[in-house]
Amino acid sequence: MITIVPMNEQNYKAVAEIEAECFSQPWSEKTFFGELSNQNAHTYVAYESGEAAGFLSVWEVCGEVSINNIAVSENYRRKGIARALLQKMLSDLSCADSVTLEVRKSNAAAIALYESFGFEHVGERRGFYEKPTEDALLMTKILNGET
Ligand SMILES: CC(C)(COP(=O)(O)OP(=O)(O)OC[C@H]1O[C@@H](n2cnc3c(N)ncnc32)[C@H](O)[C@@H]1OP(=O)(O)O)[C@@H](O)C(=O)NCCC(=O)NCCS
Repeated sequence: MITIVPMNEQNYKAVAEIEAECFSQPWSEKTFFGELSNQNAHTYVAYESGEAAGFLSVWEVCGEVSINNIAVSENYRRKGIARALLQKMLSDLSCADSVTLEVRKSNAAAIALYESFGFEHVGERRGFYEKPTEDALLMTKILNGET
């Protein structure tokens, strides 16, 4: 069973571990700790069988939500955890106007995930990523206050 809770002082280190496992230029433990006092930040942690298995970090400013990162530890993938995290965030922030994100052009898994939620390709950012250098796709979902 998947349980989703807000990031807190007890689980932010586990979030940083998942981040370090999944990304070549990870946010540090200190950065995640700082997010706990960021009024615009919403960080969700997914548990499976009592273990922190994934997280989703977004910022909401004036009705515009940006996804900073979503990641699921390798052993827990393809179990619906990322889907559950996005559903929870979209339900909590349903009054927002839009959700935007960047994703590596080669990241077929993440692009398929976002497309399944109705995110559309709205642009590209050349050389946006490092390690390795790669373009980003810019994707947006317009919410229009939907629930
Ligand atoms: C992308 C990621 C978050 C998906 O997490 P997940 O928990 O395995 O995803 P889910 O099980 O919730 O899958 C939901 C949908 O996403 C798509 N998807 C997920 N992984 C996929 C893959 N490897 N290939 C193709 N589609 C995939 C599918 O549409 C899937 O629905 P389905 O299982 O019914 O076919 C995970 O692969 C990950 O952490 N990757 C590394 C970090 C990363 O790239 N994050 C994105 C940064 S923009």
